[in-house]
Amino acid sequence: MLTIARLTRAAPLRAKFQVHRGFSSMSCVRQATHLDKDTHASTAQRLQEDSKVLLSLYGRPSLIFTHGQGVRLFDLAGRSYLDMNAGIAVNALGHNHPQVTKVISEQAQKLIHLSNLYHNENAGDLARLLVAQLNGRGKWSEGAKVFLCNSGTEANEAAIKFARKYGKAKGNNPNKDTIVSFSNAFHGRSLGALSATPNPKYQAPFAPLIPHFVHGEFNNIAQLKDLINENTCGVFVEPVQGEGGIHPSTHAFLKALRERCDEVGAVLVFDEIQCGLGRLGSFYAHQQYDITPDIVTIAKPIANGLPVGATIVSEAVASVIKPGDHGTTFGGSPFASAVAKEVCSIIQTPQFLQGVHKKGVYLLEKCKEAAAGSKLVAEVRGKGLMVGIQLNEGVSTQTFVDLAREHGVLVISAGCNTVRLVPPLIIQESDIDEATAVFKQVLQKMEQ
Ligand SMILES: Cc1ncc(COP(=O)(O)O)c(C=O)c1O
Repeated sequence: MLTIARLTRAAPLRAKFQVHRGFSSMSCVRQATHLDKDTHASTAQRLQEDSKVLLSLYGRPSLIFTHGQGVRLFDLAGRSYLDMNAGIAVNALGHNHPQVTKVISEQAQKLIHLSNLYHNENAGDLARLLVAQLNGRGKWSEGAKVFLCNSGTEANEAAIKFARKYGKAKGNNPNKDTIVSFSNAFHGRSLGALSATPNPKYQAPFAPLIPHFVHGEFNNIAQLKDLINENTCGVFVEPVQGEGGIHPSTHAFLKALRERCDEVGAVLVFDEIQCGLGRLGSFYAHQQYDITPDIVTIAKPIANGLPVGATIVSEAVASVIKPGDHGTTFGGSPFASAVAKEVCSIIQTPQFLQGVHKKGVYLLEKCKEAAAGSKLVAEVRGKGLMVGIQLNEGVSTQTFVDLAREHGVLVISAGCNTVRLVPPLIIQESDIDEATAVFKQVLQKMEQ
């Protein structure tokens, strides 16, 4: 039996930053050598050992990734992959970004954690940056405040609590506690966030869920008068749905939500956890629509991979939240806040955001080109660097994902039989050319 020391030995020996370019020239499946057999055995053996102690929750390919650089990831066997996932829209600045790595190293030597018993010098700076980026639009401009936490789910969980507190505090309707969300939404997996995620696959095993959550049809304006009423305290929507299959909200839908929330005194919550923070070419996703929420939740890319989330609330919502209403041990730590501040200060520059917009247009165009004439593709859609290739019913997204990976490109699936592309925001047009050339050939191979 191989020892762990022996199992981990091989990876760095192999083509450290070996780059796969284009489908035809790629040698992902290289000729077997003695070392290949060894590393293959290492991977298989390690995964078998790991499976004995890790709870089985995820379907994953039999690979172990060891390091990353820019838009590339490298596995234990020394193969390189073009990462079109960015850790599910997280590694906005790619892997091993020098400025991020520098802040991590410096802050780690200074102060990592305090708890919220005490103030630190970074959390306020991060919150100021997030509020400043609201850009003085509408009622967002003054008095917005930030709660810092550790994940998207936690950011939404806080938003649910804040919406309920607001509903109870404003007006005198004791029944104003209903939360509305929409079909295909994903808001997280804690019981609160899961109650707002109307997917029977995720909800059914954990029923009963939290009462007074109702669901409407995404992008359907006609239903809103009945759906959102005097008992509604909060309405959750993703400006662009991610897990649900890359579905942008229409401008008219968000506008109608804003109007109806104002009519009944409900809080409008934009879940920008996947689509926000630069991915659409503006700092916040809602700036693409020019419609302001009362709460916005963000997480994934905020610290380029460190677990950080934030719930940003308007002055009116902030005014009902009192000390002790909510809290966290880890949230807003000096370490996480320093890293998030660095990441956000890079993303916020107009030049960076314009680049994302331009590359988003290019990615969509190249994906459409790759899919043109394919009998397997129902639709290619997206906004910014968030693109979905929806395959026809009965065509396997898993086969697409597996074939792309075999040829050196990492992609993931999403709802509605869609292949989801959420690459690092630092991706270059040449990387997009490489990825889409692979997609074209994958589709051709699947048609054979
Ligand atoms: C829109 C949206 N909201 C919430 C979440 C949950 O975030 P997390 O996994 O960080 O808890 C996700 C995660 O995919 C998401 O895409």
